[in-house]
Amino acid sequence: MPQPSSQDPFGWIDEEARRRERAGLVRSLRPRETGSGGGSDLAGNDYLGLTRHPEVTAAAAAAAARWGAGATGSRLVAGTTALHAELERELARFCGFEAALVFSSGYAANLAALTALGGHRDGLVVSDAGNHASVVDGCRLSRAETAVVPHADPEAVRKTLAAHPGRRALVVTDSVFSVDGDAAPLTALAAACREAGAALLVDDAHGLGVLGDGGRGAPHAAGLAGAPDTVATVTLSKSLGSQGGAVLGPARVVEHLVNTARTFIFDTGLAPAAVGAALAALRILEREPALAARVREVAAALHEELAAAGLAVTRPDAAVVSVRAPSPGAALRWAADCRAAGLLVGCFRPPSVPDGISRLRLTARADLTDQQIRTAVRTVLATAPAGV
Ligand SMILES: Cc1ncc(COP(=O)(O)O)c(C=O)c1O
Repeated sequence: MPQPSSQDPFGWIDEEARRRERAGLVRSLRPRETGSGGGSDLAGNDYLGLTRHPEVTAAAAAAAARWGAGATGSRLVAGTTALHAELERELARFCGFEAALVFSSGYAANLAALTALGGHRDGLVVSDAGNHASVVDGCRLSRAETAVVPHADPEAVRKTLAAHPGRRALVVTDSVFSVDGDAAPLTALAAACREAGAALLVDDAHGLGVLGDGGRGAPHAAGLAGAPDTVATVTLSKSLGSQGGAVLGPARVVEHLVNTARTFIFDTGLAPAAVGAALAALRILEREPALAARVREVAAALHEELAAAGLAVTRPDAAVVSVRAPSPGAALRWAADCRAAGLLVGCFRPPSVPDGISRLRLTARADLTDQQIRTAVRTVLATAPAGV
């Protein structure tokens, strides 16, 4: 670790930047085009293609006109509108849970669930090694003892719980993992939890709108929605095309969060426009359940065509399709070449990948046509680095 110099208190930043540069790990911001979307965008998380849906954008505009551009305060002070309550009721009902609580982001929802449910001096949080950064940060903030277990390994969870009898235990897993797009073994994890009297927290950011009956999410698909020992978090920023997050669970859990979760109590409420947009998107999803099946079909088609061409691509359990790249630098160049050819794709490099393997990340969308899928596959193949 470079030491701060006595002349320049931020000199160490330049040294770190040079190290990142040498390792091919520099990140930079690139504003997207207003007209982006359609077949050219396989980088965003707009899984159902709803972010520009006229009903969704009109609902956002109407909510801003009626309630204001901002929430004006924290949820417990002035930041709750009738629209927030409506979204919470509809989200809970749709996903099959007793109650829901909306947050300003999925990140904040994960921090809330982990600190409020895991944070106790006898607390034990058992966390999958592949969990999202917001779950990792929630574990840290909870100040509970955190046991990180191997990825998607219910037996390791069972052993860890058995080794800590009498602890207030919470097992946390993503439902679909961001890096490889694989699904967690929820049924086996729930069984391990029940054997030990532990609670289960499922981050369903990538499951809502994609998995389960009509997109009701992974806990619903696994028969866990509404269970007294199961809590889920979701983001409103992927399938619902908006912004924000929520915790879903038993009413007493939601009540507990309202009273204790710091990212709920000390954070300005979600902006009305985002609430209105999420509510409109949820209603579209309920009206058009085929959207969820279509996004899975698109992901399967992307996988099939890329795998048939010999790329190392993981079989997607939801909308995320992950293609291995030989190095961070090669992944960056591959993504840049795709962009130059008119296709936006995601690029995952350390530290976002726990195993150190860089990847391109393609996200399936329900509104992609078969022709757009073929064109995207052709672009990824034409720009692939030698030897992949
Ligand atoms: C698995 C997972 N959990 C949580 C989040 C955070 O959600 P948000 O972007 O709404 O903060 C994300 C999104 O990026 C995610 O992929």
